[in-house]
Amino acid sequence: MSSNIVIAIDGPAGAGKSTIARNLAISLNLKYLDTGAMYRAIALYVLHKDIDPQDKDCVKSVLKKVNLDIKTKSNGNNLVFLNNQEITDEIRQPEVSKAVSYIAENFAVREFLVEMQRKIGRDGAVLDGRDIGTRIFPNADFKFYLTASIEERTQRRLCDLLKEGYNTTYNEVKQELLRRDEIDQNRTYSPLRMAEDAILLDTTNMTQKEVLSKLLERVEGHE
Ligand code: CDP
Ligand code: CDP
Repeated sequence: MSSNIVIAIDGPAGAGKSTIARNLAISLNLKYLDTGAMYRAIALYVLHKDIDPQDKDCVKSVLKKVNLDIKTKSNGNNLVFLNNQEITDEIRQPEVSKAVSYIAENFAVREFLVEMQRKIGRDGAVLDGRDIGTRIFPNADFKFYLTASIEERTQRRLCDLLKEGYNTTYNEVKQELLRRDEIDQNRTYSPLRMAEDAILLDTTNMTQKEVLSKLLERVEGHE
C-alpha cells in the first residue's frame, strides 16, 4: 500500500467517522486528522473570550491570535493544542458542540483552516469532517460518506456523553444533532454534502468492525 494515499471520510454528526477514520489510519499506517477538532478548538477560544460565535467579523478579527497544533498519540488519537495548551477533552463539551457550527459557517474560519488541513494531509492521511471530499481533497484517492439513522446517531452520541459524565437526555442529544446537521448542510461555504464520487455507507445496523472491514476491503482491493 502506497504510504501517501489520502482518504476522505465525511458525513453527519455521530455517523462514526472519527472512530472509523482513526482505526482505518492505524490499519493502513497512515496519519489521522480529525478536522472537526480544529473547528471545535476555535469555538472554544471564542467562548473563552466571551465572543458571540455568530458575530462573524469579531470571530474573524481574533483568528490571528489562534495558534493551533495537532499531535498524534500512539493510539492514533489526535491531541489538540490551542496556544500551547492542551484542549483535547475540553473541545468535546456540549457548549462547544452548540457553538461550533456557527464558527464553521464563517468563511474566514474555513479559509484559515483549509491550508493547514491540506498541509497535514497531503503526504498521506485519513481525514474526517464535512468537506474533505468536496473541498479539502477533491482528488482524494478514496472518499467515503458515512451516515446512519438519526435514532442510531443519537443513541451513539448519548452513550458517549453519558460515559464521559455529562448529564443529558436522548431528546436533548437528538435535537442538538438535528440542529447542527441543518446548519452544516445549509451554510454557504463548503456545506456538508456527499461528493459525487464518494462511496456511501449507511452504518445504522453495522458494528464498528464491520464498517472498518468494508472500508479496508475497498482500499486494499484497489492496491
Ligand atoms: O464529532 P462530531 O460529529 O460531533 O463533529 P465534529 O467532527 O467534531 O465537527 C464539529 C463541527 O465542525 C461540525 O458540526 C461542523 O459544523 C464543523 N466541521 C466542518 O464544518 N467541516 C469539517 N471538515 C469538520 C467539522
Ligand atoms: O465522528 P462522528 O461524530 O461521525 O462519530 P464518532 O464520534 O466516531 O462516534 C460514534 C460513536 O458510535 C462511537 O462511540 C462509536 O464507538 C460508536 N459506533 C460507531 O462509531 N460505528 C458503529 N458502526 C457503531 C457504533
